[in-house]
Amino acid sequence: MAKLTDISWEDFQALPLESKRPYLERPEGDGAPYHTLFAQQFDKPLLERLTSLANRIRFMSKTKEGALFLKSLLPHKRAMLYFSQPSSRTFLSHLAACQILGLTTGSVRDSTTSSEFKGESKEDSIRTFSSYFDMIIMRTTDKGLAEKMSWELSNSSRPIPILNAGSGKDQHPTQALLDIYTLIRSFENNGGLKDRTITFCGDLMRGRTVRSLSYLLTNFENIRQIFVAPPQLQVPDDVIEILKAHNVEYMISDNLKEATAISDAVYMTRIQDEWDESKGESKKIDVSNFKFGAEELKLLPKTGVIMHPLPRRDEIATCCDHDPRAMYWRQMRNGMWIRSALIAMTFGFEKQIMCFGA
Ligand code: NCD
Repeated sequence: MAKLTDISWEDFQALPLESKRPYLERPEGDGAPYHTLFAQQFDKPLLERLTSLANRIRFMSKTKEGALFLKSLLPHKRAMLYFSQPSSRTFLSHLAACQILGLTTGSVRDSTTSSEFKGESKEDSIRTFSSYFDMIIMRTTDKGLAEKMSWELSNSSRPIPILNAGSGKDQHPTQALLDIYTLIRSFENNGGLKDRTITFCGDLMRGRTVRSLSYLLTNFENIRQIFVAPPQLQVPDDVIEILKAHNVEYMISDNLKEATAISDAVYMTRIQDEWDESKGESKKIDVSNFKFGAEELKLLPKTGVIMHPLPRRDEIATCCDHDPRAMYWRQMRNGMWIRSALIAMTFGFEKQIMCFGA
């Protein structure tokens, strides 16, 4: 059994992402994640377990009996929501997930109101949270902080799990989980999530949701990926290297209309201009051809879906919002269910939920 207490930070950090997985699992050996940091921790069997658990929680939440049972599972645990970057959906859906499972929560969303403002390091702040809470759900601009703190906390006297809710431009594993859950649900009565073409469009260079989802899709059979973006915002090489290593067919394109016409899902993203090195550089890029509007809607196959991690600016025209193929609203709600499933699994409650009423 690989343990974070048996490996130095330097050796752990140097491992390829897929080799880090066993170190991040629950010590009980059930293959479920303890710390959730990367999409590379999830293979198809684990994604199927999570999807079944999310479905179960979704159905149980409809009845008072089911909802009360779920709420009775984790009243003895507290979760800290530490979001030092803006967030609406990721913050609220994690909060709602905690409420569904009976966890109480605390939050820091603005470091000017915490001791970070007095000069305390993020590392010390997180150590502090671990004194009062039993899980940390965190979003930061810093790519490696969640990983470093997972190792630190696992090697401390208060080891508690960390859930990465967005790490810089790098990864957003729980978003990718809800995206996969949405794709699975979208195609469940129509052949399933296999033999599909998925198009990513927008800022693929700096969008962390794309990196995480592109990887998760490699777990599914015959999923072709198309990347549509202006050259300055095209998908980075590390994403392409992973696709090559998994023998995934992919295409780089600048033609959204052509891609839409052959896609089962079009995943739109906004321009991530908060990462501009010199302010305003994104404004100089012509993005007019990377927006989904009425014309694209006409080209999208009848069984296709439009997705977006949100927030949207103008990359999906509001005229698409009432089309049954606009999946972004349901996608957002799916986040609450899959995050509930992930938190329940992290604390070892998968079996109890799956056996409810049996
Ligand atoms: C995304 C993010 O934060 O990376 N938002 C989200 O979590 N739903 C995408 C974005 O901000 O564009």
